[in-house]
Amino acid sequence: MKIPQSVQIIGAILALSAIAYRLANATQTTRTTPQQSQSGTQPTYFVEHPDHIQPGLAFHGRWATVANPYAGNKQRIDEGAKLFISYNCMDCHGADGSGAMGPSLQDNRWHFGGTDGDVFQSIYEGRPDGMPSWGGRIADDQIWRLVAYVQTLSTGHSVSTENFTGKTIARSGH
Ligand code: HEC
Repeated sequence: MKIPQSVQIIGAILALSAIAYRLANATQTTRTTPQQSQSGTQPTYFVEHPDHIQPGLAFHGRWATVANPYAGNKQRIDEGAKLFISYNCMDCHGADGSGAMGPSLQDNRWHFGGTDGDVFQSIYEGRPDGMPSWGGRIADDQIWRLVAYVQTLSTGHSVSTENFTGKTIARSGH
């Protein structure tokens, strides 16, 4: 059967426009994809993470009742003393926690509390004025060894040091 010429032409036009449509779409896709991945061309979304930006004190009480499994254990305390040196706690807190850029751990004054849980939290979560957070970087049972050791340092006597905001309080040596 012979197809009339006019139908053939219409068919050809339809086929061509279908191809043209595909091509247009294809070039659009290839044009937009790299643009989207370029930095700075994306709209900026602000994602709130209220859970992550709470100051440490907001969690006060969560740890407070936790007891140190190594409290009073001499071997663990000795290991804690070694960790205190290996993890450079000493660089900020001074030899035997006598105080340096970081506060003294000997003076029996605790800015953030001196219970097992408080001291654990200080080390685990860090404190806002320059105390790094060690949680997840070192094992929890090492933190407990450090807690046990740090607590033995508070001998009750007052040691002059720089306070935790970095302002110098008269230093009389230790
Ligand atoms: C980069 C210096 C730095 C290092 C390293 C560091 N600290 Fe601290 N630490 C500080 C500062 C500064 C503070 C006080 C933070 C504040 O007042 O907000 C502090 C606070 C503390 C507190 C709370 C004291 C209080 O009065 O309640 C404890 C406990 C403590 N550090 C133990 C440690 C231990 C254990 C290590 C080692 C694992 C360590 N720190 C390593 C600087 C440091």
